Amino acid sequence: MLKGKHILLGISGGIAAYKAASLASSLVKQHADVHVVMTENATKLISPVVFDSLTGNKTSIDTFDRNYEHKVEHIALATLADLVIVAPATANVIAKFANGLADDMLTTTVLACRCPKICAPAMNTGMYDNPVTQDNIDKLRHYGWEIVEPADGYLACGTSGKGRMPEADQLLEVCLHALRHEHDMEGMKVLVTAGPTREAIDPVRFLTNHSTGKMGYEVAKAATARGAEVTLVSGPVELTPPPYMDVVNVMSARDMFEEVTSRAGEQDIIIKAAAVADYRPADVASDKIKKSGNDDDLTLQLERTDDILAYLGVHKKDGQILCGFSMETKDLLENSRKKLEKKNLDIIAANSLTTEGAGFGVNTNVLTLITKDGQEELPLMSKAEAADRLLDEILKLR
Ligand code: CTP
Repeated sequence: MLKGKHILLGISGGIAAYKAASLASSLVKQHADVHVVMTENATKLISPVVFDSLTGNKTSIDTFDRNYEHKVEHIALATLADLVIVAPATANVIAKFANGLADDMLTTTVLACRCPKICAPAMNTGMYDNPVTQDNIDKLRHYGWEIVEPADGYLACGTSGKGRMPEADQLLEVCLHALRHEHDMEGMKVLVTAGPTREAIDPVRFLTNHSTGKMGYEVAKAATARGAEVTLVSGPVELTPPPYMDVVNVMSARDMFEEVTSRAGEQDIIIKAAAVADYRPADVASDKIKKSGNDDDLTLQLERTDDILAYLGVHKKDGQILCGFSMETKDLLENSRKKLEKKNLDIIAANSLTTEGAGFGVNTNVLTLITKDGQEELPLMSKAEAADRLLDEILKLR
């Protein structure tokens, strides 16, 4: 998805430099042409050979190294770059960028760049909180840099606090967002649901399903990248909350019903990728259920949950697009079309648990997009691509 894009990945001498290897690899997997520029200190933490190998381009470190393919390397790299991301950015390199200092390959190259720039600060909390650093970061913002806030957590110096560099997948999202130019969903409000729900049995146990939330998260990320204002209502998943959207975390089908229906009226598009429980325990025990006497069996009485999508279908506002997901183990198309009609949907994305490469937990899917007037079978593709294809189809319906 980054085919033809030249990305300059700047790495300064923070311990998070090791995470830059995953970022370089993720960018290359998106077909970007990645040029890495490291500070001397960064090379003491991770070898430039790692980046040479991952990117297929020679890592630049020394401004006076004559062994380059371009004549004035830092200017050539700066002219080529569509995007700069400096990750990790130390307090020192941020201070240099903020004040226009250019005393090594990274700072000279970045100073010459006219493209969008992203900075991911990573350092000890004291250094980060220091007003000098904060002023420098504000200066970068003023000069048009995008700053990726560091996360809270355990730091290499042995303390805990703000200063951790976000993981590579999150930085990749920031890059994709910065480079996305076809904002064909600008101004649209989109609500996406993702993940499973948990229905409590007692304070210890719950009923759930195998949904990991991957498909819904990809849909939410794709809509955000296309300029939509996205609300992601997510059941409990192991995924990192994506940037640039309002993430609402829920547990049960009842929570999801409330969070979705209270926001539904203002949405242009609602995409329900969540695997919502159809039944929940009729009574939730207030204490842990103990094994009683010699009883071998325990019977749980279940009651129906509210069908969120069916409710949305009844209360659909004019022009709103409703999209459901349907997961089946047999009679996929027939059952999915029935759901489309019964729930008054505009489109339903059907996937079968028995198709190889489709279903829970994997990064790929095989979707059939069913509308009132037809259906389109998509081949096996990544969930990210499938999300984009689904959005293309939804935009055609509008
Ligand atoms: N859905 C919902 N609320 C529920 C159950 C399902 O909003 N209580 C939504 C799902 O998010 C999905 C669609 O309905 O988008 C289809 O869900 P699925 O479980 O496949 O179908 P059901 O209509 O529940 O039918 P069945 O379980 O009988 O297959």
